[in-house]
Amino acid sequence: MKRIDWAQLASLLKARRFSREEPPAPEKRPRHIAFIMDGNGRWAQKRGLPRSAGHAAGTEALRAIIRACDDLKIEYMSIYAFSTENWNRPVDEVSTLMNLILRYFVSEIDELDEKGVRIRILGDMRAFPIEQRQALEQAQVRTAHNDGLKLNIALNYGGRAELVRAAQKLGEQCARGETQPDAIDADAISAQLYTAGQPDVDLLIRTGGEERLSNFLLWQTWYAEIIFDSTYWPDFDRARLIHDLNIFASRDRRFGRVKRA
Ligand code: IPE
Ligand code: IPE
Ligand code: MG
Repeated sequence: MKRIDWAQLASLLKARRFSREEPPAPEKRPRHIAFIMDGNGRWAQKRGLPRSAGHAAGTEALRAIIRACDDLKIEYMSIYAFSTENWNRPVDEVSTLMNLILRYFVSEIDELDEKGVRIRILGDMRAFPIEQRQALEQAQVRTAHNDGLKLNIALNYGGRAELVRAAQKLGEQCARGETQPDAIDADAISAQLYTAGQPDVDLLIRTGGEERLSNFLLWQTWYAEIIFDSTYWPDFDRARLIHDLNIFASRDRRFGRVKRA
């Protein structure tokens, strides 16, 4: 019989213990974290499954990440669920996504509300079928007075469309004589965005390995730290989130200043 190599066993156990990373200290965590939840299609393709299976698996990952952000006392969480460009996907994929979004709200709203999550939809909801729109509006109204995690869900959202909308609103205010063009500053623009009243994004994580913003929160990410994580969204879990939070905590955010000694 092979003898037990205690030294090897101890080092294996030690490695396992240390592979479980601890989250950074609360003051080193982002106040506002944004996710581009990408890679659902490729996750499914790799397994020989239809893309819709990837989207379904993606909603499971989302459930776990909302819970993790809540546990980790993250104040603001923004997720990119459907972009203004995603209407260009095949009709059946768009309808799968719409159905998943609706089902998600119906099945999760009680738990989210119980946890004190406050939901805000970023994007133009007029484009959604009436049933979805009502579910989304109800979710916002029902959670409006909660004071836990602030969860922004970007649906039919585009950063450019959001800025165009802000410019139009400010233009109308000028036309009505409520403001002057030279009184428009960065705060005035921020106040016209879907994220009005919220802090800018501190950390943006894009899963799936693509390295672009794809029209997400263009104004609010102006000084965000960005992590392009190669994990496909359905595989993104609490441990990976903690790993990325530690990368964020190790970054030196200079905001144009010089490095601290
Ligand atoms: C992101 O995953 C989900 C949405 C855009 C709604 P994708 O569907 O873009 O997955 P990939 O990028 O094709 O793998
Ligand atoms: C960005 O992912 C949109 C969402 C995650 C909702 P896409 O997969 O649509 O982005 P591109 O097409 O790769 O830029
Ligand atoms: Mg994609």
